[in-house]
Amino acid sequence: MFDVKEIRSQFPMFKQKMQGKPLVFLDSASTTFKPQCVIDAITNYYTNATSNSHRGDYDLAYVVDKTVRETRQAVARFVNSKENEVVFTNGDTSSLNIFAYAYGLKNLKENDEIVLSESEHASNLLPWFQVSKMTGAKIVYVPLNEEGRITVDNIQKVVNKNTKVVSLAHVGNVMGYRIDVEKIAAICHSFGAIFVVDGAQSVPHFKTDFKKWDIDVLTFSGHKMCGPTGIGCLIAKEELLNNIDPVFVGGGMNETFFKPNNMIPFDAPSKFEAGTLNVAGIFGLKAAIEFLESIGMDNIEQYELELHEYVIKKLEGSNIVIYNKTADSGILTFNVPGRFPQDEATYLNYKGIAVRSGLHCDKLLPDFLKVNATCRASFYFYTTKEEIDYLVDCLLDGGDILDAYFN
Ligand code: ALA
Repeated sequence: MFDVKEIRSQFPMFKQKMQGKPLVFLDSASTTFKPQCVIDAITNYYTNATSNSHRGDYDLAYVVDKTVRETRQAVARFVNSKENEVVFTNGDTSSLNIFAYAYGLKNLKENDEIVLSESEHASNLLPWFQVSKMTGAKIVYVPLNEEGRITVDNIQKVVNKNTKVVSLAHVGNVMGYRIDVEKIAAICHSFGAIFVVDGAQSVPHFKTDFKKWDIDVLTFSGHKMCGPTGIGCLIAKEELLNNIDPVFVGGGMNETFFKPNNMIPFDAPSKFEAGTLNVAGIFGLKAAIEFLESIGMDNIEQYELELHEYVIKKLEGSNIVIYNKTADSGILTFNVPGRFPQDEATYLNYKGIAVRSGLHCDKLLPDFLKVNATCRASFYFYTTKEEIDYLVDCLLDGGDILDAYFN
């Protein structure tokens, strides 16, 4: 295991206070804090190595090109894909949009089916909504079981010969449930469908194996795994990338073009990387991956599960309504009876605790949960049990939003 206190000392944000109290940051599913090594890597690019990538014939550009290559290799190692299957994007949302348009507009037609679920965040629903409208393909929702999980049995009920795409989060951002990607991939492939895995809430938290799981597409953001904002990845099988066309075109993605309007793109991944890359983000992403590797993804997974079990035990017997007692991740979704979630979050803010309240970018799930909104506390490897004790104390101390306003 690792020393949480030592690890926290590497994150400058933990020196911050909120409402004059020590900051308790329980919103890591939204974005994570950054260790000093990531901040240093970004600063190093701006201070010592600024130049564009893949365009310069001078020393500085060489340093940048080398780091871009090394980062692509680091991502490939981290998720077990091939280097040329890694496309740099602006983040998970951008990856899902690029893939949905590139694949969908070329391959989908009326009566084809796209399988989604009600527990997806907007980034994995809205691109497919658009593609469905543009192509006539139909969206089908896999039913959730009583607990709110996507089961292999229910996948089997909805995937058929009309299914062309199944696109699901590996871990849901509200319920924190994990799906069996290997079994779902096998079902998809038996019907000739492709399986897109939104890894925004999984890649940062446990070991990913793109190759072994035999999934077709994987997307994620750097900022949810200690990296900078504005950088993410679209990973797709080589043959899939070779068979789809770029959505964005411009400098850096074409081998040549000529009059009147012809263009020959580079091979993947470059053909999907039009314009100047987020080079600072790429420097930071490499540092983030190396940092997570130094802690160990299995250790991170084990610790977060321990934290979830810990908070559930602490709240046992209380009146707090928990929606995901059996979550497979460090996500606790709850409500305090008689309180609006936003009021509760405001009260917790007054106590120095950051949680998320509302719909969490998932506007279909509340119908299933039969609530208007919820509070969500999300943990990462830098969360301590003392912070969880403090959260539980604050949830149970009888204080409310009026304390926040009138103290
Ligand atoms: N999808 C992110 C979250 O769950 C923004 O908070």
